[in-house]
This record gives sequence, structure tokens and C-alpha cells, in this order.
Amino acid sequence: MGESGLGREREPSVMVEVHVQPGDAQRALRAEVLAGLCGERQPRELSPKWLYDERGSQLFDEITRLPEYYPTRREREILLAHAGEVVRASGADTLVELGSGSSEKTRLLLDAMRGTGQLRRFVPFDVSEAFLRQAARGVAREYPGLPVHAVVGDFERHLGRLPAGGRRLVAFLGGTIGNLKPAERARFYAELAAGLAPGEGLLLGTDLLKCRERLFAAYNDSAGVTAAFNRNVLSVLNRELGADFEPGCFEHLAPFDEENGWVEMRLISTRPQAVRLPALERYVNFAEGEVLRTEVSCKFRPEQVEAELSAAGLRLVERWTDAAGDFALSLALKR
Ligand code: AVJ
Repeated sequence: MGESGLGREREPSVMVEVHVQPGDAQRALRAEVLAGLCGERQPRELSPKWLYDERGSQLFDEITRLPEYYPTRREREILLAHAGEVVRASGADTLVELGSGSSEKTRLLLDAMRGTGQLRRFVPFDVSEAFLRQAARGVAREYPGLPVHAVVGDFERHLGRLPAGGRRLVAFLGGTIGNLKPAERARFYAELAAGLAPGEGLLLGTDLLKCRERLFAAYNDSAGVTAAFNRNVLSVLNRELGADFEPGCFEHLAPFDEENGWVEMRLISTRPQAVRLPALERYVNFAEGEVLRTEVSCKFRPEQVEAELSAAGLRLVERWTDAAGDFALSLALKR
């Protein structure tokens, strides 16, 4: 047992391996709030992972169905058209999926692998144990006889623990890679590549650069779902830290930052306010107009994705885009 205390459990063809301890999230949240909210750092910042409690996950699900939010539909379109080519070009017999396991996209890839007779194993990897167990059971039921080896972990800490065996294709879909800033991305690619054998690969979903109007609409939808999703992080802080944020006293805004090539979600204090953080024995003051950044979502040029992957020893084999050219799926294999 390492620091992560390996816990293994068997259900019919489902194994769950746990690398996350019960108090981990609480501790990480406190450390982040101390450094990113209470510290001197400007802008104040929290990582997007805190957006996804139960309510936040529901709201995100709603976002994926909004008319303005195109990435989910575009990625699905690409997989519907090209999943067969993807799995053939990958040569993989094991699908590892980072941060999911319950989605329709998973099925598209699993079906394609089954179709070519390549499918040997499914390894869903997610930070939420409850969600992962449910997803793993669902897949095990739908694909009788398919060994499902679920891993509870954080892709910024436990990438090195992906179970070996077979020829693996690691799918990181949805454009979630865009949540990582350039240095974090480089670390992510390097750690992933370090754990892959030559010929094993990464299937990466990335949102592409496009006109700022469409980017703005996608992250500032007219129904206000993204605003509710963003503000919900304040309820998470209230619940987890006993804070007294008033979500109504923060406005949502998600502008496109041309220089950095990312959309950033902001919560903007509508008035001067002091917020109590009892769990940390702190206050945090917000001036009117002060920004709390809750997410960056990077938008890419296809060649940039290729160059970053290549720098990590991952050679681009093929790239697929939707008809409108909004989103890309890149397949890269370890050199
Ligand atoms: C799940 C990170 C890909 O960046 O588009 C959606 C999250 N944030 N609307 C994205 C999100 C606001 C989403 N990712």
C-alpha cells in the first residue's frame, strides 16, 4: 500500500481501485482557499474541480444541452462519424477513460472496439467514487463479460497509477484538458506519456479557437445555466467551510481572454463585502468589482495541440474535426 492506500473490491467483473482518501478533497479545498482566496494572489482563484458537487454536475449536464454550448454536440458528432477509425488507428484493446465512464461517448468508443473485436478491458478513471461505481456497474451490465477496472483518482496526481496491461488508449474527452493552463498541461502530458508503452495512445478532445462572439455565447448563455453553475461554487464553500457567501452578491461573467487563448469564468463581487470562512478562522474581503476566477477553458489551434503532444513524446497519428470545424479529436501514440 502506498500513500493512497490501495482498496480493492470485487463485484461481478467490476474492480474498483481507490487512490483517494476520504479527507483528501476537504484538505485540498482548504489549502486552495487559503492560497487562492485568502492569500495575496491576484486574481483570486479557485480550481474548476470545486464546481462539480452533485448540484454542479447536474447543472453542467444541463449546460451540455444548451443551444449555445456546442462542444458536447460537436464531439459526439465526431465520434459518431469516426469512432471506428479512431479505434482501428489506435490498435488498442483497453479503453481508459479519464473523468467519465457514464457518457454516451464512452459507449460509442466501446461499441467501436467491440465491433472490430479489439475490446478486452475498460478502465474508467474519476475522482468521484460514488459516480464511478455507478458508471462502472452500468457499463459492466451493458457489456456482459467485459472486465471493468475502475480507478478512483485525481488526474493531476494519480496518472502514474493507471493499471498496466493490454494495449491502452487513454480517452480524455469533452475539452477538459482546456481547464489546465499551459504549464499544467505540459505536466499532464509528460506524466501520461511516462506511463504509456510505445504504441499506446491518447485520444484528446479539444475545443478550437473561433470567433469571440460564439465563445462568449457558449459561456454566458441566455437561460443563465452557466451563471448558476458558476455561482454554485459559493454554495460549495458555504457547505464545506461554513462560509457565508451570498451567491446573489456575485455576478457571473465569462469573457474570452485573447492573449491567453482561454475563456475564463469569473464571479464578480457586486459590492464591498466581507465573507466569513469559519473552518479556516479567516475572513476574506471583496471590493466592489473584485474578481474571483473559477475556471479557465483554453481554446486551441490544431497545430498547437499537435506541438504540445509532440513535446511530450506523443506523436499525432490522426485528427478529426466536426463539419463546422469547432472541435477536434486528436489521436497521438507514444513514440
Ligand atoms: C467540462 C471543462 C470542458 O470548459 O467548456 C462549461 C466546463 N464551464 N461551461 C468547458 C464548462 C462552463 C467545460 N469543460
